[in-house]
Amino acid sequence: MEIVESPFELRELCNRVRAAGKRVGFVPTMGALHRGHLALVHEAKRRADFVIVSVFVNPTQFGPTEDFSRYPRTFEADRRCCEEAGVAAIFAPSREAMYPSGEETRVTVGITDKPLCGVHRPGHFEGVATIVAKLFALVGPAVAVFGRKDYQQWRVLVRMTADLMLPVEVVGLATVRDADGLAISSRNRYLSESERVRALSLARGLSMAVVAFNGGERRAGALRRIVVAEVEPMADSIDYVAVAEPEGLQPFEEDALVGGRALVAIAVKLGVTRLIDNVVLGEDPAPI
Ligand SMILES: Nc1ncnc2c1ncn2[C@@H]1O[C@H](COP(=O)(O)OP(=O)(O)OP(=O)(O)O)[C@@H](O)[C@H]1O
Ligand SMILES: [Mg+2]
Repeated sequence: MEIVESPFELRELCNRVRAAGKRVGFVPTMGALHRGHLALVHEAKRRADFVIVSVFVNPTQFGPTEDFSRYPRTFEADRRCCEEAGVAAIFAPSREAMYPSGEETRVTVGITDKPLCGVHRPGHFEGVATIVAKLFALVGPAVAVFGRKDYQQWRVLVRMTADLMLPVEVVGLATVRDADGLAISSRNRYLSESERVRALSLARGLSMAVVAFNGGERRAGALRRIVVAEVEPMADSIDYVAVAEPEGLQPFEEDALVGGRALVAIAVKLGVTRLIDNVVLGEDPAPI
């Protein structure tokens, strides 16, 4: 497995791989790798011949009060994890390599990045879209795999890729969960024991919404309140609990009826940790 730090070496490596007739698969991450990331790698290996994982804690997607400087950085463990998973190369650039002095271009996605997390993390999806566009330009992947745990991120990147006519297939993989239903995330390691117990209310609330939907409930407000009732007593604060249209992500009015599919998305804080989770009603199984 190669470890590449220079963007231009990465581009040359990918050029050679493609010239040899191989399909490049790409999994962008911020490191602190876990089973969720590994599922993305396995999916990329199924769809491509040469899989590249990037490990880069992207400063432009963190807000000024967020955890950029204390984000977990575990490169040695990440390297071993990728090696065992059959990753062909890791790209681990410096901040200066990806944002050299004088750079000033940002990629902004219009409507998809506004609701849900867009309200609470201004500039976050612009940072995500910008770094992913740069990475796509360096790697030239045939396919890139993202997790639907970060559902809005996936939709923003699908939109960006279509709008910029980038020749990449953007795949969204189902959320990988711990045995008790908690969506796996690098930030879960911040949770205390009691916070982790309280965090299960997210998967529980979403499961209750799935059961209600499968039992015929279609009122957006009623579905939303089922989740709120479960999560509110357990979270320290709620950023949002939303029932939204699954492609454009616009939240339904409380008195609207959802159709055959609807996204239910949650963002809460537990202590210092911000957790997100979601299901698509009419599509995903209950998390618990
Ligand atoms: N539990 C999971 N199941 C599937 N994909 C996941 C899961 N967790 C993260 N991913 C995906 O891994 C990719 C890299 O995400 P990232 O490195 O930010 O990990 P993370 O666990 O989301 O970390 P954090 O919670 O700190 O943001 C993203 O496409 C993300 O959606
Ligand atoms: Mg993440």
